[in-house]
Amino acid sequence: MEEQLTIGIIGSGYVGLVAAVCFAELGHYVICVDSDESKVALLRQGKAPIHEEYLPQLLERHQNGLIEFTTALKEATERAQILFIAVGTPQDHAGTADLSYVDAVASEIARAITGYRLIVEKSTVPVYTSEWIRRIMVRNGVSRELFDVASNPEFLREGTAVADFLHPDRIVIGVDSERAAVLLRRVYAPLTTGSYYRKTSAIPGARTPDHVPPLFETSTKAAEIIKHASNAFLAMKISFINVVSNICEAVGADIEQVSQGIGSDRRIGNSFLKAGIGYGGSCFPKDVAAFRYVAEHLGVEFGLLHEVEKVNREQKKRFFRKVRSALWTFRGKKLGVLGLAFKGGTDDIRESPAIDLVRMFLEEGCMISAYDPAAMERASYVLPSSTHMMYAEDAYEAARDADALLVLTDWQEFIDLDFDRLSRIMRYPVVIDGRNLLDPSVMRRYGFTYLGVGRAAAPQEKEATFFYNLP
Ligand code: UDX
Repeated sequence: MEEQLTIGIIGSGYVGLVAAVCFAELGHYVICVDSDESKVALLRQGKAPIHEEYLPQLLERHQNGLIEFTTALKEATERAQILFIAVGTPQDHAGTADLSYVDAVASEIARAITGYRLIVEKSTVPVYTSEWIRRIMVRNGVSRELFDVASNPEFLREGTAVADFLHPDRIVIGVDSERAAVLLRRVYAPLTTGSYYRKTSAIPGARTPDHVPPLFETSTKAAEIIKHASNAFLAMKISFINVVSNICEAVGADIEQVSQGIGSDRRIGNSFLKAGIGYGGSCFPKDVAAFRYVAEHLGVEFGLLHEVEKVNREQKKRFFRKVRSALWTFRGKKLGVLGLAFKGGTDDIRESPAIDLVRMFLEEGCMISAYDPAAMERASYVLPSSTHMMYAEDAYEAARDADALLVLTDWQEFIDLDFDRLSRIMRYPVVIDGRNLLDPSVMRRYGFTYLGVGRAAAPQEKEATFFYNLP
C-alpha cells in the first residue's frame, strides 16, 4: 500500500531541490532544509533558483501543501522519518571529494535525533561514506538502534532533471537492513507500482504504468560505487569518441557516421558518443577525479581514468588550435561565441569547456561577443563585461562583424538560426562548431566555411588534405 512519508531533504542544490519537488509530486510531505537564508526566502516565494524544466510548475503545485522550506535542520530531524543528505561534495585541492558538508550535517542530525531515523546519502560520495556517517552518529552518542544509513544515488541530468527523476532508467537503493529497505521501497512505491504514471497530472516521460522502473537493492557500498562508476564510464565514453574523432579528422572520415555505426551495436549504445570540446559540468570532472582518488587510495591501479581526464583537457586545446589555424592570428580578431553553459538546456557554467575556451581566447587578445540563452548572467560573474568581453542580446548580435562564429554549447535553438542572415552580418562567414550541432552541408550551402570536430571536410578540401597528408 502506498503511504505518505515525511521526508527531510538537506541541501537545496540541483539534486536536493529536484528530489524535494519530486518526492512531493509522489505524494510525500517534504521539509527542504538549506543553510542559505536568501535561497530559502526565494524558494518560499515559489521562485526556482535554477533553470530547470518543470521545476517552477512543481514548486507551484506543491508549495502550499506538500513542501516547506526552512533553515532549521534540528526541527526537520525531529519531524521527518527519513533524512536525505543532498549537500555539495566539491572537489578539494587533492582531487578527492570534500565531505566537510556531509560531516557537518551528520553531526547536527546526531545531536537532534529523538527516535529512529533513516539517513540516506543522495550526494555523490566515495565508497565508505555511509560507514563514516555511521561512525559520526555513534561517536556523537546515538545508539545503533536509533538509525540506519542508506545510499540512494541520483542519476539525473541537468536540464532534464525532473523528468529523469520521475522516469528513471533504474532506482538504486543501497541498504544494509530490512528496516531501511522497507522505508525506501515505500518512498519510491508510486514509481515502482506505476500509480504515478496513471495520474493525468503526471510529468510526461518514458515510463508508463506498464513500463515501470526497476528498483535495485544493493549494499550501501555497492550503491556508492554504482554512482561513481556510472559517471566515470559515461565520461570515458565521451573521451573515447573524442579520440576517435581526432582519427576521423586526420583521415577525412566523419565522426557522426562512425558514432552511429558504433552506437547501433546494442552492447555499446548510441548515447554519450557525441564528439565535441569535452565534458564539463558539476559532476563528471569532479566524479572522475574522486573515483580515481578512491581507487588510488585503495591501492587499485586505474590509469584509464587519468587518460579520460587527459583526453578531455586535450580536446579543448585541439579546438583552440583549430580556431587559431582558421584565423591565422588571434590578436584583434572578433569571435562570436554561441553558448557558455556546460551543455544545452541549463544555465550552469560549472567546469564549462565553453568558459575555459573563452578565457583562452581572451588571453590571446581576441574580442569576444557571446550569447547564451540562459547562462549569461552566471557567466558574467566569472567573465565580467569589458572592452574585450561583450554579451550579446541574441545570436545575430554575437555574430555581427565577427571573424568567426564558434558554437560552444549544444543549444537546440542554434540549429534553427537564420543562416542566410548570419552569413550576411559576419565579417567572414566562418563557423567552427565545437559541438557538431550544425549540418555541414547546410552551412556550406549558405556559403560558410564550416569546421566541426572530427567531421569530414568538404569534398574538394578532403581530396587535397588526403592527397598531401597520406601517412
Ligand atoms: C551527469 C550524468 O549524466 C548524470 O547521470 C549525473 O547524475 C550527473 O552528471 P550532467 O552533468 O547534468 O549529468 O550532464 P550530461 O548530460 O551527462 O553531460 C555532461 C557533459 O558531457 C556535458 O558537458 C556534455 O556536453 C558532455 N557530453 C555529453 C558530450 O560531450 N558528449 C556526449 O555524448 C554527452
